[in-house]
Amino acid sequence: MEKFLDLISEEMKAAFEAAGYDRELGKVTLSNRPDLCEYQCNGAMAGAKSYKKAPIMIAQAVAQTCKESKVFSEVSAVAPGFLNLKVKEGFVAEYLGQMVKKPKFGLDMPENPGKIIVDYGGANVAKPLHVGHLRPAIIGESIKRIAKYTGHDVIGDIHMGDWGLQMGLIITELKMRQPELVYFDQEYEGEYPKEPPFTLTELEEIYPTASGKSKEDASYKALAMEATVMLQNGNKGYRALWQHIMDVSIADLKRNYDNLDVEFDLWKGESDVQELIPGMVDYLKKEGYAYMSEGALVVDVKEETDTKEIPPCIILKSDGASLYNTTDLATIMDRMEQYHPDKMIYITDKRQDLYFEQIFRCARKAKLVEPETELLHIGHGTMNGKDGKPFKTRTGGVMRLEVLMQEINDEMYRKIEESRGEMDEEAKETAKTVALSAIKYGDLSNQASKDYVFDIDKFTSFEGDTGPYILYTIVRIKSILNKVKEQGSLPEELMIREADSVSEKDLMLQIAGFNAMMETAYEETAPHKVCAYIYDLANAFNRFYHETRIVSEEDPDKKAGWVALLMLSRDILETCIDVLGFSAPERM
Ligand code: ARG
Repeated sequence: MEKFLDLISEEMKAAFEAAGYDRELGKVTLSNRPDLCEYQCNGAMAGAKSYKKAPIMIAQAVAQTCKESKVFSEVSAVAPGFLNLKVKEGFVAEYLGQMVKKPKFGLDMPENPGKIIVDYGGANVAKPLHVGHLRPAIIGESIKRIAKYTGHDVIGDIHMGDWGLQMGLIITELKMRQPELVYFDQEYEGEYPKEPPFTLTELEEIYPTASGKSKEDASYKALAMEATVMLQNGNKGYRALWQHIMDVSIADLKRNYDNLDVEFDLWKGESDVQELIPGMVDYLKKEGYAYMSEGALVVDVKEETDTKEIPPCIILKSDGASLYNTTDLATIMDRMEQYHPDKMIYITDKRQDLYFEQIFRCARKAKLVEPETELLHIGHGTMNGKDGKPFKTRTGGVMRLEVLMQEINDEMYRKIEESRGEMDEEAKETAKTVALSAIKYGDLSNQASKDYVFDIDKFTSFEGDTGPYILYTIVRIKSILNKVKEQGSLPEELMIREADSVSEKDLMLQIAGFNAMMETAYEETAPHKVCAYIYDLANAFNRFYHETRIVSEEDPDKKAGWVALLMLSRDILETCIDVLGFSAPERM
């Protein structure tokens, strides 16, 4: 269904044409003076030069042709040549009436849906998730959901770090503690045990211990590196241990991501493409893309138009070992082969901006992707503490994700208890639901590339631009609807009526902008646009609510119209929070 703003623009374009001017001048935008008008058109100003006329003359002539408009209730030409516009109540009501009937509120589905892979999360196996993993998980999940909602075929892949030194460190430490384990017996020919030789708790202790030791002791580190190479070269016992580490760690990762309502379609990792690397290296050499430089195999990726230095992409180190780069390139190859995506979107810390620039250029240059395959990196900013520095624990350490989540859950629990008095099971669940909205909205309402301050007090507040405020609004709507239902006066059919008041019309206009907003959020991979939209929508709703006695209204038609508007508001808000990755409780 056509976007509301486009429909109005169409009408304004016709008016310009009728007045004898270029129709393209009739583009309408949202008003930047909402106190004066709802929409505006600056076409008369833009056209003044070529028509050699004062803009106000053009504006007046255009306004003159709109007297009988079915769309505009007001078109006024104001100095120096703006056209201030208001739309007819009936026109908005009719538009919303259509939205109610159509799937996805009339959002048009793409003619050729794209196949998109979203690579996000960035978890490393056997290392605990910490606060640095929060942003890519939250942002990636939302980008994935927005793309799905707008009709694309989307695959979310966690792309785990599961092939690096951390694996060698764990194996080394395990060997020191339990050298008698069969995994270390090179002669062993039998089956390896099904049960892992460690628990999650043990694993969580083994990795940091080993990592600490390797920083202090060069020979320990050398052992860990050797173990890593042996694993990568296919040592049977080490591979079996690796599988145990994967199983134990992934179960824990899943639990953590579940708590965040983050769900991956693929749990692939660096290890999955190791077998592709030799073939890829041969290809890069044979086609002349890669050459030896100071012992390393590299691909030049600088371009003439560069204003900064872009170093070559290293494919193999001088000792022949592959790197993070190599794996990412092999993964691109693998994805092209298996899924043939039109687009790959990566969400990581923006400190990897240059890295992805190199990878993307290398993939294009070496034709690992099609010329039309889109490669997009969304580099996110840092989550800071109130001191403006990267978020840390009180003692200055890296905070584990679970600890952070617990703190927010506790704070939300406290706030809800304060307002409710007593807490039952349902209230506890509610506290968790609301806490998740606090974290996610707090993050997503900022443009991804910007740093932001993680402020528990602010994020968990029921007032202001926060997740809990949005949920509060949804719950308020649900509670009104419940009351109407108890009265037995829920209408059979949803009938949107013309607005009776300014606040009601504002709410309706805000709703009418839904499909344009969603399309932009997808095109610009910008979840913050969804946040800004629902914040405005929630404000518009609350203004309407404070001015209107819905439940006690006696005119059944009027009441039915409001109920329809409430349901539409609720459904749109819930759809929006769903693409942001959280949900609303029934009551708060
Ligand atoms: N595991 C990586 C890290 O901790 C992030 C992976 C991001 N995805 C990618 N395809 N490189 O930094």
